[in-house]
Amino acid sequence: MALWRTLSIPIASPLGLILSFLFIHFAVTTNVAIRVKTIIHNPSSGNLPVFKEAPAFRNGDSCGSNKSDLIHIAMTLDENYLRGTMAAVLSMLQHSTCPENLYFHFLCTHSHVELVSSIQSTFPYLNFKIYRFDSNRVRGKISRSIRHALDQPLNYARIYLADILPADVTRVLYLDSDLVVFDDVKKLWDVDMEDKVLAAPEYCQANFTVYFNHAFWSDQKLSKTFQGRNPCYFNTGVMVVDVDKWRRGWYTKKVEEWMTFQKKKRIYHLGSLPPFLLVLAGNIKPVDHRWNQHGLGGDNFEGKCRNIHPGPVSLLHWSGKGKPWLRLDSSKPCVVDYLWGSL
Ligand SMILES: *[C@@H]1O[C@H](CO)[C@@H](O)[C@H](O)[C@H]1NC(C)=O
Ligand SMILES: *[C@@H]1O[C@H](CO)[C@@H](O)[C@H](O)[C@H]1NC(C)=O
Repeated sequence: MALWRTLSIPIASPLGLILSFLFIHFAVTTNVAIRVKTIIHNPSSGNLPVFKEAPAFRNGDSCGSNKSDLIHIAMTLDENYLRGTMAAVLSMLQHSTCPENLYFHFLCTHSHVELVSSIQSTFPYLNFKIYRFDSNRVRGKISRSIRHALDQPLNYARIYLADILPADVTRVLYLDSDLVVFDDVKKLWDVDMEDKVLAAPEYCQANFTVYFNHAFWSDQKLSKTFQGRNPCYFNTGVMVVDVDKWRRGWYTKKVEEWMTFQKKKRIYHLGSLPPFLLVLAGNIKPVDHRWNQHGLGGDNFEGKCRNIHPGPVSLLHWSGKGKPWLRLDSSKPCVVDYLWGSL
């Protein structure tokens, strides 16, 4: 693939430099975008946006074609995030040395005929499978969070990956739909998990206290949950999961138990993240931060623009309230949104 692009932003560079860098980058990629431009929003044709067909992406010479060479990627599929999904998939294909080895596992909650045909017509060569996620599995376990969007059952599907995916999938890369990559996902996929069940970028400088409320920290028994671990925040939108270990360790049940607990006694305010932290924080394999530049959607309440953190970038993630496709539509985009729009 000739489309290798990796953003590199110098540490502690002043804001102006970052902004001008983004604009330069945008300018550089526009001539590429003529060939790969895929996302066309056409509100006049039914409920779903219409997307232009993406070209076939072919494996490089160094790629194997064994089943063991497949890279399993799980994502949710939903009308509201469909544009995000298309951009994420396209960005992965574009930047993979072995795009034909990518295998997508899409999880959706209800009638998915239109969604499937949308994926099929946009990516005629894509290896993918659709799974129905039964939202009844979590319905009684979701507690209201500070942002309604986080309460959608599909947001919790990542907890059930090990049950949903076929038994021969032993490792999976779970990705949110509001992100794009600028690097070969195989590098992330190939992470040495050591003895861990989950690998993700970890943020030990973030104040971990804030993810749980006073009722949690002031309870003698509960506050000992993290004893013997150095718990750090990680974002559940980008995770490599050892599905075998997850199954054998009954992790779905462990996460569910905290969700059930939360229904009885409120100990956190955010959707599916805190139960993950309760079970796994301080016990994951840390991955380079370049693989999840998160928070670009802004904060949970107001959705203000956020800048990219210092350091190299392999994946941009619009977690938070604002989504790039909505901000671009409303003609009030943040600077980083142009990177999404240039795909
Ligand atoms: C497939 O993998 C097996 C074992 O890992 C190996 O022996 C075989 O040569 C591979 N086949 C191809 C076509 O790469
Ligand atoms: C972390 O957040 C808690 C709760 O908001 C606060 O009380 C505490 O002082 C913070 N700790 C640090 C090191 O900033």
